[in-house]
Amino acid sequence: DAELPRLTVIGTGYLGATHAICMASLGYDVVGLDVDPGKIRKLQSGEVPFFEPGLPELLAKTLESGRLRFTTSYAEAAEHGDVHFICVGTPQQPGLDACDLSYVDAAVRGLAPHLTRRCLVVGKSTVPVGTAARLSGLLTELAPAGAEVELAWNPEFLREGFAVDDTLRPDRLVFGVTTEWARERLAAAFAPILDLGTPTVVTDLPTAELVKVAANSFLATKISYINAMAEICEATGADVRDLAQALAYDDRIGGRFLQPGLGFGGGCLPKDIRAFAYRAEEIGVGQAVSFLREVDAINRRRRSRTIDLVRELLGGQLNGQRVACLGAAFKPNSDDIRDAPALDVARTMHGLGANVRVYDPAALDNARRTYPELRYGTSAMDVARDADVVVLLTEWAEFREIQPEALSEVVAHRRIVDGRHALDRDAWRAAGWEYRALGRP
Ligand code: UDX
Repeated sequence: DAELPRLTVIGTGYLGATHAICMASLGYDVVGLDVDPGKIRKLQSGEVPFFEPGLPELLAKTLESGRLRFTTSYAEAAEHGDVHFICVGTPQQPGLDACDLSYVDAAVRGLAPHLTRRCLVVGKSTVPVGTAARLSGLLTELAPAGAEVELAWNPEFLREGFAVDDTLRPDRLVFGVTTEWARERLAAAFAPILDLGTPTVVTDLPTAELVKVAANSFLATKISYINAMAEICEATGADVRDLAQALAYDDRIGGRFLQPGLGFGGGCLPKDIRAFAYRAEEIGVGQAVSFLREVDAINRRRRSRTIDLVRELLGGQLNGQRVACLGAAFKPNSDDIRDAPALDVARTMHGLGANVRVYDPAALDNARRTYPELRYGTSAMDVARDADVVVLLTEWAEFREIQPEALSEVVAHRRIVDGRHALDRDAWRAAGWEYRALGRP
């Protein structure tokens, strides 16, 4: 493997840890860096600090192979790496739509002073267009190797819950480069994935930065489109599930990301569309993507409409009612509660005086820590005990499989709001339940 470049991965959060572990599993010698010694300790001892199927097993294997280690030292990372991936977070700034680039800047400022030989720094974080050009200048200024240090951009499209597969078998690779040398280095850093025949787009830096936000904006728009149709359905007695199904048979539209319901959340889609709109305004082309503000607004309205349905089922009053919330994570198979529609709905109902109890198969610890004011239970059955209404907010498989007859045994009233179109309406109604779902009569 002498010809394989040695890799470092700066930032061992969701993106970075997955990238480091997957690259090591492909045979690369990888050093993962984080400024948080706690994270480094965990990873080095074989523990993945977040929930991701398949990743703990892969971490154990790669640690054993000796091809993966972790450090907090930039000097050590710089010494090791021929290609350095920047994988730190770019969260939304509090109270502002722009994203916070301080972690990206800190990573470059931490690494650059130790770069004494020719190498490639590759940005993977989601950033506002124009960031790469600025970072490139910063590297040249701060690195002892000066212009020998090149910058490339390689956006990451992984989904939580499918992170390993998305990393090892991506739909496409995007290489944003300014020189042929950088393209060759990137090709070497992804050789086993390119060998699979993975389609690759080689482009400039601003295009590579934009691909990521353009893709996420498209996905968010598609979800809000079908949810906007749900609003029309609600006003007309039409059925958005049938509508979506009929649209999906048109290959040009397709059924993926056309699931109506409570809408999108998570650490990416909501913040990415806001940061994109903000950046576009900053550079004078805000009008081009002003529709993203509408996409965001449609998405937020699904949350209040869900609460309306609960209130309607309860005869107009939430105050003092016992509400069982099924789900807290922003989507199934994840413990991530960032911008989770489920918890937003639960907290609002709690604020309106409802007696809310929440259960989630994976996100309870995170939810408890972040929202200690809510009450939590140990299972769907547990939170449903004596409930006046059950509200399904995240479509975990174990909720889909609940038998209405079993739940009938424990609730006070057989009323259910299906915020994710996850249940068989007819079966629940046949079992004597009042069933409501967004966008369906
Ligand atoms: C997303 C992108 O899919 C991924 O490519 C990018 O790298 C990061 O952002 P992720 O945040 O992990 O990934 O979640 P995703 O599976 O895309 O779901 C996003 C949200 O949309 C979830 O809250 C989900 O419940 C919601 N959603 C998804 C819908 O409401 N309807 C759909 O049809 C699909």
